[in-house]
Amino acid sequence: METTELSGALAEQMNYYRARAAEYDQWFLRQGRHNRGVEHCAQWFGEVELVRAQLAELAPFGDTLELAGGTGLWTERLAPGASSLTVVDASAEMLELNRARLGETPVHYIQHDIFSFEPEQRYDFLFFGFWLSHVPSERFDEFWELARRCLKPSGRFFFVDSVKETQSTAVNHVLPLEDDCETLVRKLNDGREFRIFKLFYQPDDLQAKLKSRGWNAFVRQTEHFFLIGSGSIDA
Ligand SMILES: C[S@@+](CC[C@H](N)C(=O)[O-])C[C@H]1O[C@@H](n2cnc3c(N)ncnc32)[C@H](O)[C@@H]1O
Repeated sequence: METTELSGALAEQMNYYRARAAEYDQWFLRQGRHNRGVEHCAQWFGEVELVRAQLAELAPFGDTLELAGGTGLWTERLAPGASSLTVVDASAEMLELNRARLGETPVHYIQHDIFSFEPEQRYDFLFFGFWLSHVPSERFDEFWELARRCLKPSGRFFFVDSVKETQSTAVNHVLPLEDDCETLVRKLNDGREFRIFKLFYQPDDLQAKLKSRGWNAFVRQTEHFFLIGSGSIDA
């Protein structure tokens, strides 16, 4: 993709999340267009608990940075184990919901585009939920170089993301059949459509990719829905 085309596509992706902020949690909570029945919900929330447990095992987190924090579904999981917590997101609408969810919990919020973000300090722990899949392949290395600059030499990271599973998305969304297709069309509840990046990784491939770039990385997945990655800068 040409630079201007890529910038335009990333701007559309940001606009999509700004417009989606108020309905974002319906996806995670399996409500409305995302409700696929009792059995599905039991499986989904069971797998959510597995991810939460694996994250909790890494506490205490120390000084923590969350990129693309969204409405705070993971911010509230990080807060109890963090000595300090900073959340970056491009969307003011998302950050407002995050603030409301976290209430009195001290969180330093930064509204910024991740692709031009420079950390003010280095952190012990870096978290990003459902973000890596929105990073176009052309920006993969740039993103992981940023991740390195965000971390202290002993720092650790943890991410959760989507496995390519049709049941994960809304009932009126279509997943592309081709494995090399990096974008798809997302709809809002009011029918507005946006094209966004959504890259699906196989755990082994992503782990090998990260290791080849100097990360000590362990990537795995839950039974159906979630990709999980954790690790540190290779010593
Ligand atoms: C899929 S949501 C994930 C939210 C949260 N991490 C979670 O798991 O609930 C993606 C988030 O990335 C944010 N975002 C999209 N493009 C961004 C960019 N270029 N820079 C910073 N944040 C961005 C959106 O506003 C949204 O909050």
